[in-house]
Amino acid sequence: MKSIRFKIFAFMAVLLVLLLVMLNTLPMSSSRDLVFEEKHSSLSGRAAILASSLSGLERITEESAGEVLGLLDVDGYDRIVITDEAGKPVYDSAPAAGTEAMGDVLSAVTGKTVFRSSFKDGAFTSSFAMPVATSAGLMGAVYLYEHDSERAEIILDIQSRILTVSVVIGFAAIVLSVLFSEVLMHRLKELVSSMRIVAGGDYKYRLSVHGQDELSELGEEFNALTARLEDTETQRRRFVSDASHELKTPLASIRLLADSLLQNDGVPMDTVKEFVSDIGHEAERLQRTTEKLLDLSRRDDGVLVAPEPVDVKQVTIDALALLKPLADEKKVRIRCSLEDGSVIMATTDDMFHIVFNLMENAVKYNVEGGSVNIDLASDDETVNLSVADTGIGIPEEDRLNIFSRFYRVDKARSREAGGSGLGLSIVHDAVIAHKGSITVGQNKPQGSVFTVSFPRPTSEETGI
Ligand SMILES: Nc1ncnc2c1ncn2[C@@H]1O[C@H](COP(=O)(O)OP(=O)(O)OP(=O)(O)O)[C@@H](O)[C@H]1O
Ligand SMILES: [Mg+2]
Repeated sequence: MKSIRFKIFAFMAVLLVLLLVMLNTLPMSSSRDLVFEEKHSSLSGRAAILASSLSGLERITEESAGEVLGLLDVDGYDRIVITDEAGKPVYDSAPAAGTEAMGDVLSAVTGKTVFRSSFKDGAFTSSFAMPVATSAGLMGAVYLYEHDSERAEIILDIQSRILTVSVVIGFAAIVLSVLFSEVLMHRLKELVSSMRIVAGGDYKYRLSVHGQDELSELGEEFNALTARLEDTETQRRRFVSDASHELKTPLASIRLLADSLLQNDGVPMDTVKEFVSDIGHEAERLQRTTEKLLDLSRRDDGVLVAPEPVDVKQVTIDALALLKPLADEKKVRIRCSLEDGSVIMATTDDMFHIVFNLMENAVKYNVEGGSVNIDLASDDETVNLSVADTGIGIPEEDRLNIFSRFYRVDKARSREAGGSGLGLSIVHDAVIAHKGSITVGQNKPQGSVFTVSFPRPTSEETGI
């Protein structure tokens, strides 16, 4: 695996090398070209003046050429050659300089101009050869040669300065990129090690986030994710411990009842029956709790049954029939006002759970001689069901929690009534699953009111 640090480094190095190579070559080559151009124009200008002066002569001889040179100011050249029309030098300021120039001179005699310029061994050497022409024809050639080390020195000096600057820039860039990649790597490593810590199960761990760049954003997202994980984990633990507690209590009662039956000989038949019936009740409660737990876990898994049109009035009447014995036993009156045509999109099972649990609570947590009012009505947009009772009511501080799993306001009373504290959380989950909402309030002068609202489906949805 190639690390990010290596990639950053390689990228910076390539960029730097390209930049420095360009910095060291481009200005040098263009200033050299400038000098070549300048040499061309100065040499060609001088040679042209010399050639036109010589073209005024009758013939180019050693004396006449010497005279012309004496009149013109052509100092500063390292070699001046003047030839006659045959290319034979009549004047040469540095004959010992070699015969290299002669090739160019011979070309000039045939009418060509030859310019050469080069930069080597720390100097510019330039030469220019041109014919001396008159209207009558070619009379000879002139050749100028110059060796310039002054300008070359300036250019070499600039070159060495640029090189020094390049080395400094290169060094600074390396130091900076090392620092930058160290900081970046440190932050990335911190993030990775935090992930490992959380993956190891420490959901309380939070990364300390500084700054406002993308990495900080990543850190914040990571913290938010960890917080959600912690939340889910806390809920899961609480649920497991509550559920085991709920299952443990009736099981302990069953064991106790069974043990006392086994250990005592000659227990009267009536007592045996009573104990066995108690065992039956506890077993029934266990069964109800496990059924509710299963229902909740199915909902958590998100198993969705396709919604169908459900007539809430019919469901309410069915629930009522089941609750009648309990209401009679508690001497609670149930009054209903149920509007026809209150159809919503849900499943009959879910709707039954909702209505039954609300009505059961309204009867269970009522007072003797109390009443329950069920009102079902709909407007253009919603179908509303309200279940109001004149019972013991729910203190305001508990209202937020009653939809949580296993939450009971008065534990002793609820357990006595056979409650597990799961009913309202099933109601809540079922209402939300069908896009409805549920609220709880206080009934005047006493008791509670639960109101459930569902969106009224369009006739397209119900197909009616
Ligand atoms: N109508 C009501 N009046 C007063 N208290 C209520 C009413 N409905 C619910 N509660 C309180 O809210 C708690 C939670 O109700 P929920 O229906 O979830 O559980 P439960 O009735 O105890 O058990 P389960 O419904 O699972 O048999 C109840 O224990 C009770 O204290
Ligand atoms: Mg209940």
